[in-house]
Amino acid sequence: MPLKNCQTIRVDLGESRSYDIMVGSRLIEFAGKLIEPHLKRPFTIIVTDENVAEQHLADLQASFGNQGIECDAIILPAGEKSKSMTMLATLLEKLIAYGVERSDVITVLGGGVIGDLAGFAAATLRRGVDFIQIPTSILAQVDSSVGGKTGINSPQGKNLIGAFHQPKLVLADIDILDTLSDRHICGGYAEIFKYALINDPEFYNWLLENGEKLINGDKAARQYAVVKSCQSKANIVAQDEKEHGLRALLNLGHTFGHALEAHTQYSDRLIHGEGVAIGMVLAFEFSSFLGFNNGADIAAIKQHMQKIGLPNDLSFEGLQPLPSAKQMLKYMLQDKKTEQGEMTFILANAVGKSFVEKNVDQQLVTNFLKSKSFK
Ligand code: GLY
Repeated sequence: MPLKNCQTIRVDLGESRSYDIMVGSRLIEFAGKLIEPHLKRPFTIIVTDENVAEQHLADLQASFGNQGIECDAIILPAGEKSKSMTMLATLLEKLIAYGVERSDVITVLGGGVIGDLAGFAAATLRRGVDFIQIPTSILAQVDSSVGGKTGINSPQGKNLIGAFHQPKLVLADIDILDTLSDRHICGGYAEIFKYALINDPEFYNWLLENGEKLINGDKAARQYAVVKSCQSKANIVAQDEKEHGLRALLNLGHTFGHALEAHTQYSDRLIHGEGVAIGMVLAFEFSSFLGFNNGADIAAIKQHMQKIGLPNDLSFEGLQPLPSAKQMLKYMLQDKKTEQGEMTFILANAVGKSFVEKNVDQQLVTNFLKSKSFK
């Protein structure tokens, strides 16, 4: 059967770094055909994790085989802990041992963790080899596989070591999402909802109407939301690839969210999307605390998150016991947007009207944190 109903979004970064994001059903089956034009020789190494390998590796290898592409797979442990210096070293050594040359292409099959780690390995191996992303989670399809942010965590914070390295192609296969747990589908939804809250009230209304359908498996709704999210991200990345300004908007909710993730030591107590969901509510509440909005949207945002199955406040069990305000501030100061000790936040005047606010007074942040449940 031919490939049908696939949509393509172009990330426009000039002649050498522009690439397509393809979104549709059965893309794994067609991966060999779609990736082949990007290969200098019929050879690639697939980097994936144990869980994804069990579900999708055989299909991807078959697709490469049908196209006469030789491939081997490097299978790494699943989970955020793999975004470490140790795992990076292991991966690089394996890629070198497999004889990956500078003109080869690495195929990255996985969620955000594998995408970030293997993308960073690609950025540094032989001073940079090309890679292709096949994101297997909603979060990776709408955010981490697009835009070229790659990296690993440090014990002091998330994604503190990394590089901008754009993929050559992204294949977002909607069918793959059927294999995700409910918790990870909801977590990924937080990143979709983020695009609506940043700058798209129309998409916000669409999500209020259709969000539950998407969560419950409706493929057309999923494809629509993934395409919308990727278009939004591609548009921002094309204007500000290295985050000198506008791109910071994509961090809505992340300053609070990453601090909460650091507090829970990047464990299953709080998955990334849950941190982002609670973080976005805190960002709207902080905006209201600072007088930037009248708080009118907050109840509706929280209600929608609850309907979807996302946590929306600090009572979430995985966060208990909460850190002190002082500890929370310490985590938040690790944010990459902090400059000379000055904090930057993504705030919002209303749904779809977010903005970057620099030089936010630390005392105001502490006062806000204390007004919440951080003591
Ligand atoms: N995840 C935020 C960004 O790619 O800029």
